Amino acid sequence: MRRNKITIVGAGNVGATCAHWAASKELGDIVLIDVAEGIPQGKALDLMEAAPVEGFDCHIIGTNDYADTKDSDLVIVTAGVARKPGMSRDDLLKTNANIAINVAENIAKYSPNAHVICVSNPVDVITYIIYKTTGFEPNRVMGMAGVLDSARYRTFVALELGISFEDVSAFVLGGHGDDMVPLVRYTYAGGIPIEKLISQDRIEAIVERTRKGGAEIVSHLKSGSAYYAPAASVIQMAEAILKDKKRILPVAAYLQGEYEESNIFAGVPAIIGGGGIEKIIEVDLTTDEEASLKKSFQSVRKVLSEVNV
Ligand code: LAC
Repeated sequence: MRRNKITIVGAGNVGATCAHWAASKELGDIVLIDVAEGIPQGKALDLMEAAPVEGFDCHIIGTNDYADTKDSDLVIVTAGVARKPGMSRDDLLKTNANIAINVAENIAKYSPNAHVICVSNPVDVITYIIYKTTGFEPNRVMGMAGVLDSARYRTFVALELGISFEDVSAFVLGGHGDDMVPLVRYTYAGGIPIEKLISQDRIEAIVERTRKGGAEIVSHLKSGSAYYAPAASVIQMAEAILKDKKRILPVAAYLQGEYEESNIFAGVPAIIGGGGIEKIIEVDLTTDEEASLKKSFQSVRKVLSEVNV
């Protein structure tokens, strides 16, 4: 019996916080890798020294050498630069695309059987680059955005109703950009459609706040972007894979005809388990919802057309 081995590429705020949540859930041994010397080593050792207090049994190492990541079961890619106020996720493309190619080559070389969850922005396009560069089957490569966008949306709905965060179920589809599509018709509070509980005006305001949710955090932080909710979202996906939970989660998946799209990664609901993306679920959409989703896919395609992989 061998513990799961999880590699986290990038020891910045998102990477380190992923390590923190993964350790607290005892998902496996963790390798934190970064180009910056000392940072992954220091953060990994610091986190492992919390083990006796928190009671998790995970070995956590920090490194600058991909050889240490050998035979990982799961690789989480957070490497890249983050947004500053006024920047869109797409502004990060050139820098993060080059980083992603290098990371993907190392994943393919050292962990040819791993699942990959990508977080670096613009996430839908960076996930595509990682898919193409690793040459992995599409079910083993996914991007994290929908779980985060849905978490923000669920947070705002719960705050609006003054109810438990746990009782709101919802999902957000499309690309991880300002025209993402929170599906109001499929949003429930304790099983009750929210359209029966919240006025149309307030729902629209919540949808708008969700779409700008990442920018709202960037505007507070000034340097860097969100990390607690993004990392928690990644680890929910990681747990679904490593424990074969078969959760239905919105993830950036490779589309091959689903939602009438092909050769693109974008957010759709899928069953996530030991086989990675085990099934993409197609939900019925109204004409308006379909149009919004199409627009969001088109925004992803526009950025995708700028890369050559
Ligand atoms: C955000 C980043 C992770 O939405 O894209 O906060």
